[in-house]
Amino acid sequence: MLNSIGVIGLGVMGRNIAMNMASHDENVAIYNYTPDLTEQLVTNREGLPLHPYYDVEAFVRSLERPRKIFVMVTAGSAIDSVIDSLIPHLETGDIIMDGGNSHFLDTERRFDQLNEHGIEYIGVGVSGGEVGARTGPAIMPGGTKEAYDQVAPILTKIAAQVNGDPCCVYIGPKGAGHFVKMVHNGIEYADMQLIAEAYSFLRVRLGLDVEEIADIFSSWNDGELKSYLIEITADILRKKDDETGLPLIDVILDQAGQKGTGKWTSLQSIDNGIASSIITEALFARYLSAVKAERVAAASVLGGPEARPALDKDVWIERIRQALYMGKIAAYAQGFTQYRTSSELYDWNLRLEEIALIFRGGCIIRAEFLNVISEAFATDASLDNLMLAPYFADKVQAYQTSLRQVVAEGALTGLASPCLSTSLTYYDSYRTANSNANILQAQRDYFGAHTYARTDREGMFHTEWQ
Ligand code: 6PG
Repeated sequence: MLNSIGVIGLGVMGRNIAMNMASHDENVAIYNYTPDLTEQLVTNREGLPLHPYYDVEAFVRSLERPRKIFVMVTAGSAIDSVIDSLIPHLETGDIIMDGGNSHFLDTERRFDQLNEHGIEYIGVGVSGGEVGARTGPAIMPGGTKEAYDQVAPILTKIAAQVNGDPCCVYIGPKGAGHFVKMVHNGIEYADMQLIAEAYSFLRVRLGLDVEEIADIFSSWNDGELKSYLIEITADILRKKDDETGLPLIDVILDQAGQKGTGKWTSLQSIDNGIASSIITEALFARYLSAVKAERVAAASVLGGPEARPALDKDVWIERIRQALYMGKIAAYAQGFTQYRTSSELYDWNLRLEEIALIFRGGCIIRAEFLNVISEAFATDASLDNLMLAPYFADKVQAYQTSLRQVVAEGALTGLASPCLSTSLTYYDSYRTANSNANILQAQRDYFGAHTYARTDREGMFHTEWQ
């Protein structure tokens, strides 16, 4: 009997995706470049219909036509090597899916390359980490709709399900799926950093201990902030270090890593003229965290402000909650603006309502308020900015004072709050009808004769300033 799908790359994510497919009654051919991971999975296959192959040709021959191959290897040149090894064995109409965090422009290049061979290529954004891959990730496939329709029965059943709906929809042509995953990760960076700043305020400014903060995050997770990232932060804060008995968080070094997708989101927004300042600030916060030795040295040279009086805990815990929620709204507004603007630019016809819906389950940024985000775009598909949707306009109106107080108090205390303060700046800049950019235009015209437009008539003008 032929296998219905093949998985190449049996690292943590590939192994879990293969097991997920096999748990849904698919006969899955498995192959890894080195045999050790294939053997490991065979030993631990839990009776699932996973069928090992040790050379590419036999692996491909074992598949039903059109062949469906899900590649889960490290993004970059490894994908190109896998594609090159597959091409000689594939036929017109066969389908390769790339489930890694590939750059969407690489996906577009590979799509064109395979198109010349009559082979379909689907760039599949997959979010949810290793547990999600096994039990149901959010899936963002981009390629031709015809190819997607061939793989949809498998992808929709292995995806997370919310209220009976799969967290997998066809995203758009070529690199659109990987683009949506990339910006998902940018939003993820901002969301994580905002939570970290709320934690700092509670810990440093209000002087709460880690257990108390864990309880606060748990209670926030019962309300409008309900989300995977808030939930895991509460869990993280409860974890004790086996060796020292201290909260584990207190022995984790404060240097953040990153694999590049957040950076790509920022670079792309800069290239396309989109103000993704909160996402980019989250990236810069990771960069600054990385220079630990410099920060330690600077701490003894560069002074902060004088100590401030103690604050009323209950009042400020609620302020921080509201500030965090408003920061989150602004960060998602930036991510969804990047979707809308890029969709127009690349002619992708992204359906923001559906993107918000599939983010409700499986993915790292899954959050209760994605229901409202989806409704906002269902009501107005061309909404300029999420903050303008009635629900969110009311929320930011109600919560802006808290965000202002938290940012101001953080600044007076000398507590860095890069994403909270950038959220506020974004909000205030976006709602400013008459900005100071007239000064910039005048300066540009003064020193470079770059000309300026006038408020009272059409055309471009230059002034002899001196
Ligand atoms: C997901 C995650 C996943 C991965 C990130 C981590 O959606 O499942 O985003 O893709 O954990 O790549 O990214 P950094 O290492 O850049 O934080």
